[in-house]
Amino acid sequence: MENTVVIGAQWGDEGKAKITDLLARQADIIIRYQGGCNAGHTVVADNKTFKFHLIPSGILYKDKICMIGAGTVIYPEVLKEEIENLKAENVSLDGLKISPLASVTMPYHIDIDGRSESCAANKIGTTKRGIGPTYTDKISRHGLKVEDLFDEEFLSRKLDDILTVKNKELVHIYGLEPYTKEKVFEICKKYAQILKPYVCYDWQMLFHNALKNNKSILFEGAQGVMLDIDWGTYPYVTSSNPVAGGACTGSGFGPSVPKNIIGVSKAYITRVGEGPFVTELTDETGDKIRNIGHEFGTTTGRPRRTGWFDAVVAKYSVLVSGLTSMAITKIDVFDTFDEIKVCVAYKDKRDGSVYSWYPTNVNIHKYLEPVYEIHKGWKQDLTGMKSYDELPENAKKYLERLEELIGVKISIISVGPDREQTIFKS
Ligand code: IMP
Repeated sequence: MENTVVIGAQWGDEGKAKITDLLARQADIIIRYQGGCNAGHTVVADNKTFKFHLIPSGILYKDKICMIGAGTVIYPEVLKEEIENLKAENVSLDGLKISPLASVTMPYHIDIDGRSESCAANKIGTTKRGIGPTYTDKISRHGLKVEDLFDEEFLSRKLDDILTVKNKELVHIYGLEPYTKEKVFEICKKYAQILKPYVCYDWQMLFHNALKNNKSILFEGAQGVMLDIDWGTYPYVTSSNPVAGGACTGSGFGPSVPKNIIGVSKAYITRVGEGPFVTELTDETGDKIRNIGHEFGTTTGRPRRTGWFDAVVAKYSVLVSGLTSMAITKIDVFDTFDEIKVCVAYKDKRDGSVYSWYPTNVNIHKYLEPVYEIHKGWKQDLTGMKSYDELPENAKKYLERLEELIGVKISIISVGPDREQTIFKS
C-alpha cells in the first residue's frame, strides 16, 4: 500500500475507524497525528466491538507499529484504561509507541474545559476532555511534553513556571481550586509510569528505516476537516489540525511522504456540539437517520445532529485536504428511504444569492438554506452486498452523482459496520 492519510471530510464521526482498520491490514506503521481522547473510534472485529480514543485501531493486527504522534494530546488516565481494556482482550501492545514530543493533558486542563463550557454564554459544545486547554498551553509554551515527565529536575523547574500562571487562571478566571506543586508532581510521576513502557525515543531511526525500506505508513486522522482549527467552522471547532496537512506536522513525516489522501464522508452528515450546519434536519427524517444510523457519540453519548449529504462541504474538504479519493460510509442507512436529498449549493435567504463554494464566514450561515437535488431511494438491503456491480441502479446513480459533485472518485463504500461489509471500487 502506498503511504496513505485517512481523514474525516465532515464534522467527525464519519466512520474513519473502520476505514483505517481495513487499510491498517496493509500498513506497517499506523500513526495518529492530532487530537486526543475527544475522538472515539469504534471498530467491530471478530464479532467484538472495540472502542478507541487514543491508540490507533491498527493495534488489533499483529506486528504493526502503532504510534501516537507528536501532534496529539494524551490524557494518561484514558490511555491507561484503553491499554487495560486491550490487555483484557489479549490484544498485544508490543507495537504501541508514543512520541516523546506529544503533549500531556493534565487534570487542570479538564477542570478548565468543563468550567469554561459551563459558564460560557456562547458554548462550543466540547467533549470536556481538556483538549482546547491542553493545546492552548502547548501554544503558549506552558505545556508538558511526554518527555518532560521523565526528568525530575527539569520538571520541577517547569512546574514552578506553569503553576504560577495556571493557578492564577484556575482561581481568578475560573473560580476553581489551585493545584499544589506536590500534587502535580505526584500526578506527573503516575503519568510517567503509565507512559514509560511505550515512549519511543528512537523514532528518528524508525522513521528513517521505514522510508528507506519502503514500509507502508498509514496516517490516522481524528475529527474532521470542518472541525479544523484553521479551516473549520471557527470557533465551533476542535483545537488541532484534522486536515491532511496535519498528518505531516503532527507525525514528523514530511509532506512528500503521503501519496494517497482518503477523505471519509457518511452518505449523510452528522455533527455533535454547537455550530453552523446548513443541511441539518430537525424533523422526523433527522430522527430516522439518527435512529437507523445509531448516531450517538462514542465519547460523550450525546445524540448527534443529523442532515443530508452536503456536497459544498465535501468539495471544500477535497480542496483544503487535497483528497485523492473519498470513502462513503453508512450508505445502508438509506435502505428504506423513498428519496434521498443531496445539497449542491447554498442560497442566501436575504437576497437569493447562491453559493456553490463553502462560505467560510460562518456568521452568515444562519441566513443560508440548502439547495437540494432529490434522488430516488433503492429500497433494498445493501448490507450483504460485496461488489459495486451488485449495488442497485439507484444506489449507483446516487454514488456516481456524488463523485461528479465532489470531483474525486469514490474508492470505498461501506454498507455496514463489519470489516466484511465493504466494497472497494477501482
Ligand atoms: P473538543 O475537541 O472537545 O474541544 O470539542 C470541540 C468541538 O469538536 C465540539 O463541537 C465537539 O463536539 C467536536 N468534536 C471533538 N471531537 C470530536 C469527534 O471525535 N467527533 C465529532 N466531534 C468531535
